[in-house]
Amino acid sequence: MSCQIKEVDLNRLPPADEILSEREQAFFQTLRFPKRRVEWLGGRFALKELVRGLTGAEYKGIEVLPQPTSGKPLLTVGGTNSPLAFSITHSRGWAAAAVSTEEPFLGIDLEKIEIRTDAWARDFFHPSELTAAGDAFLTALWTQKEALVKLLGTGLSLNSYEVRCIDGKPLFSGRARQVYEQLGSPAITLQTAERIPGFMFTLACGH
Ligand SMILES: CC(C)(COP(=O)(O)OP(=O)(O)OC[C@H]1O[C@@H](n2cnc3c(N)ncnc32)[C@H](O)[C@@H]1OP(=O)(O)O)[C@@H](O)C(=O)NCCC(=O)NCCS
Repeated sequence: MSCQIKEVDLNRLPPADEILSEREQAFFQTLRFPKRRVEWLGGRFALKELVRGLTGAEYKGIEVLPQPTSGKPLLTVGGTNSPLAFSITHSRGWAAAAVSTEEPFLGIDLEKIEIRTDAWARDFFHPSELTAAGDAFLTALWTQKEALVKLLGTGLSLNSYEVRCIDGKPLFSGRARQVYEQLGSPAITLQTAERIPGFMFTLACGH
């Protein structure tokens, strides 16, 4: 796998007008809640740091704006759609981005490890996924599902049983399977780790 990952502390971000393009600043101004604004800015800062390192472009020449239907962001560099696969996540004071020049499909998710009740687990996971127990396991499983949803690009439109993860292996059904096949049924690898203490992180790569 050839992915680069960057985490940023949301308390240590540069001012928005130093890194956002004019169009990004216009979108940023429409975000009403301070928490959402700082997360949106943090995800962009993390991604722009990576893309700057790969392409040499300046922050404001790199634009990451949401697409109207799916919410999946579109990356442009110097005004041109970028072929780089990328993904953004944020959780409780942190944002992260990943980028790959080789893997065509990418999804990441970061979540704080916290108390996960049995009722919560039953709501979101199919019994076949619950091969272990405990807050760390359930949080890891959640990040795997979310990373897969982002890799597929579907966002909220799927129900959680359509994207299962059984012992680190994805299993798609229903609309998730259709989308997966439309992408050419890529081979997907999942890497899950506690990269930031107290947080689970999953990187899903497909090629
Ligand atoms: C939007 C979603 C993809 C992730 O949301 P989340 O885990 O709450 O939030 P994260 O911080 O990890 O990720 C948000 C980022 O995902 C990215 N994203 C949003 N929609 C996306 C899509 N359709 N495809 C890929 N990435 C997407 C964006 O970059 C967004 O950050 P930004 O708006 O600041 O740019 C979506 O799965 C969601 O809201 N899920 C909520 C829970 C749920 O029902 N899960 C079902 C799992 S099967």
